[in-house]
Amino acid sequence: MSKSRGGEGGYTPRDGHYGEAVFRPEQAGEDDRIDLGALTYDDATLTRLTKLGAGPGWHCLDLGAGTGTVARRLLSQGGVAAVLAVDRDVRYLTARPTPGLTALEADITAPDFGPGQFQLVHARFVLMHLRSWQRMVTKLSTLVAPGGVLVLGDAIDLTTATAPTTPYTQVMRAMWQGLKDTIGTDVSWVPDYPQLLRAAGLESVAAEIHVPPLLPGSPISRFWAGTWDRARESIVATRLADEAAVDAAIRYLDSPDCAALSPGMITAWGWKPEEASP
Ligand SMILES: C[S@@+](CC[C@H](N)C(=O)[O-])C[C@H]1O[C@@H](n2cnc3c(N)ncnc32)[C@H](O)[C@@H]1O
Repeated sequence: MSKSRGGEGGYTPRDGHYGEAVFRPEQAGEDDRIDLGALTYDDATLTRLTKLGAGPGWHCLDLGAGTGTVARRLLSQGGVAAVLAVDRDVRYLTARPTPGLTALEADITAPDFGPGQFQLVHARFVLMHLRSWQRMVTKLSTLVAPGGVLVLGDAIDLTTATAPTTPYTQVMRAMWQGLKDTIGTDVSWVPDYPQLLRAAGLESVAAEIHVPPLLPGSPISRFWAGTWDRARESIVATRLADEAAVDAAIRYLDSPDCAALSPGMITAWGWKPEEASP
């Protein structure tokens, strides 16, 4: 449900989606921004996926696959049999064909989206951007083959609600609000992943959190700087931060004064019972 604020200098948030008002794949450098997130988190993701057993013989589904780094590493590092990589825009996936990787352009929230069942169903930094996240957890669990695993990763923000106001926390808070207003992004429910997976009928549910160090010049610092720059209009529209604050926060990220905790990534998983009821 979109919020509406009118009045002079106000704004009328749209009922938009990821890739429309912000994070448009047509915008130059969007693939590089996604890759900075991947550089930050791929090792943790691949370690978890392979520990869960993703390996030879596995057929995998990666949803909202972005530039395809996880899908490609599942093949090259995990040695899985095949990965179906789905995205609303597959330009980065098809740009670099990889044996075993099939790209499918689709909206995963579409009622008729049902590409089959897979031993691994994975989505990272995707459901937090979907207003239908609750329904999607249930739906994605139906795409897991009996005995397979659903693995969901999303952002978890451990500090900005309570931390003192600095350029960093001010703009980070404004970013979450701006993204919520424009494309529906919401990370407030993300810590509930274990309960959501259990409620979807999955078993042996567990979760872990990885928080990357926010060091000047690090991939995660460059990721947030690039993200704030791209979401600048949505951030400023909240009136929680102005252009000067965004610039100050970007400078802060790259300065020796930077002393803050980045949002992290929760990875949660649950297993589909072998004898799943129909
Ligand atoms: C933040 S990026 C994450 C990319 C990748 N999973 C990663 O972690 O590097 C979110 C991705 O989800 C895709 N996406 C967003 N909404 C989608 C939808 N409804 N259907 C399919 N893909 C979607 C976007 O196009 C984008 O590639």
